[in-house]
Amino acid sequence: KLPAPFQLPLPIPPVKKPIRSDAKADYYRVVQRKASLEILPGLKTEVMGYDGLFPGPTFDVRSGRTTVVEQVNELDVSTVVHLHGGHTPAPSDGWPLDFIMPTSGEHGDHHMMGGGDMTMGRRTYTYPNTQRAATLWYHDHTMDYTGPQVYRGLFGLHLIRDDEEDNLPFPNGDREIPLVIADRAFDADGSFLYPAAKDGPGVESAYMEGVVADVTLVNGAPWPVHEVDAVRYRFRILNASNARRYELAFSNGPAEFVQIGSDGGLLDVPVEHQTIVIAPAERFDVIVDFSQYQPGDEVTLVNKLDNNANVMRFKVARKAVDESNIPARLSSYAVTPRPTGVVRREWRFRRGGDHSGWTINGKAFDPAVMQAQVKLDQYEIWTFVTDVHHPVHVHLAPFQVLSRGGKAKLAEFDHGWKDTVDIRPAEVVEVLVKFTAHKGKYLIHCHNLEHEDMAMMAAFETI
Ligand code: C2O
Ligand code: CU
Repeated sequence: KLPAPFQLPLPIPPVKKPIRSDAKADYYRVVQRKASLEILPGLKTEVMGYDGLFPGPTFDVRSGRTTVVEQVNELDVSTVVHLHGGHTPAPSDGWPLDFIMPTSGEHGDHHMMGGGDMTMGRRTYTYPNTQRAATLWYHDHTMDYTGPQVYRGLFGLHLIRDDEEDNLPFPNGDREIPLVIADRAFDADGSFLYPAAKDGPGVESAYMEGVVADVTLVNGAPWPVHEVDAVRYRFRILNASNARRYELAFSNGPAEFVQIGSDGGLLDVPVEHQTIVIAPAERFDVIVDFSQYQPGDEVTLVNKLDNNANVMRFKVARKAVDESNIPARLSSYAVTPRPTGVVRREWRFRRGGDHSGWTINGKAFDPAVMQAQVKLDQYEIWTFVTDVHHPVHVHLAPFQVLSRGGKAKLAEFDHGWKDTVDIRPAEVVEVLVKFTAHKGKYLIHCHNLEHEDMAMMAAFETI
C-alpha cells in the first residue's frame, strides 16, 4: 500500500564536507555502502548509496578549484563513478570498465573484459571544475549495470559556483533548493523492485523501453511537501529517473517557471515556461515566484505526461520580504553562429542493428572500438537521429542545439549549454560541439539507463 501524498517533508541532501583542503583543491572521501532507509513510512528499503544516502551527498564546489574524491566501494558489486556534465580528464571520467572492484561480490566474469583500468576497493577521481557555474550530478556508470545501480541509489548532485553567478540577486540560502526527481517501484516489504533480467545484465524483455515506476520521489521522499514563504525560490531540477520523462506544471494559480539555467549553467537571458519538459539526466535551473499566493494556499507540482500525476506540493506559509530579483541579462553566455566547413558526424539511435537491443549507428557498445576521432579545439556539427524517444548525452563538453526537426529556431527547452538533449521519436537534432583540454576515450550514449545498459553507447577519442 502506497503512502498518501504530501505527508513527508522534502529532504535536502546534506552538503559533503572535505576532509582537507589546500591552496588548489578540496579532498573528500565517499563510502559506497548499503543502508536500510525508511523511504516509505513504516518500511525499510535497502539502498546502495554514496555514504549510504539516497540521493548521495551534494558536492558544493567552486569553479577552478579541484575536487578530489576518494570513492571507497564497500558494496558487493563493482562500481564506476561518472561526473555528469564534468569537464573531466579521461582517467577520472568513469569509463564503464574502469571498475572499482568490490572486495567481495558478484558480476565477476564481467571484469575480465578488456579496455578497463580496474582498482581494488577504492579509486580516486580528480575533477578540475574548469567550467562555469552549473548543476552537475554524479552517478554510477558500471558497464551493463548502470540502470539497477542508479535505481538503488548511486546518484547525487555536484554544484559548481562561480563569481559571475554569485553576483546575481537570485534567491539563495533556504530559498535555493535542489529537486531531484526519480520514480521507483517498491515491493510490499519496502525493497526496490527492479525488473532485472534473470540471467546476466539488462532487464526483462517487457522493460526494453526503460523502467518507469509508480512512486515519484523528490530528493528521496515520496510526493513530499515543502513549506515556502510567499516569495521567489530557485529550484535546481534534475530528472534522475532511469527512463521517465516529465512535463512539470503547477496545478493551480499563477506560478510559472522562469528558466535561468540549463545543464551547463546560466542562460544569457531568462526564459519563461508554463511547463517544463525534462528527460532523464537533464537539468533546469528555474525561479518560481510564490508572491501572488496567500498564506494557506497549496500549489501542487504535477506531471502532465502522466495524467497530472502528483510530484510534490508547496504550502505557502507566510508573507515575507523578498530581496531577490531576476535580472534581464543573466550571463555572458552567447549563442555561437553555425560555422561552415566543419567536420560533421551522424549518430543514429535505434533498436536493432548488430544485435536485438539498442544501437548507435547500428552497433552495440564495444569498448575496444572508437567510433570517432575528434580533434580538440575544433567545432563539429553532430546530428542525432532517433526511432523512439532517446535522451542523448555526450561526455566531456557541453553543446548548443542548432536545429530540431529541421527548424533552426531554438525550441523551448533547448536553450543554453546542454549535455543531454531530449530527442523525440523519429526526430533529427543538430548540435554544435567543441571539446577542449582533455585527450582520451569518452562516451556518447542514450541516458535512458535501460537503453544504455542494453548497449546504446559509443566511444569516441579526443585527439
Ligand atoms: Cu549521466 Cu554517461 O552519463
Ligand atoms: Cu534511448
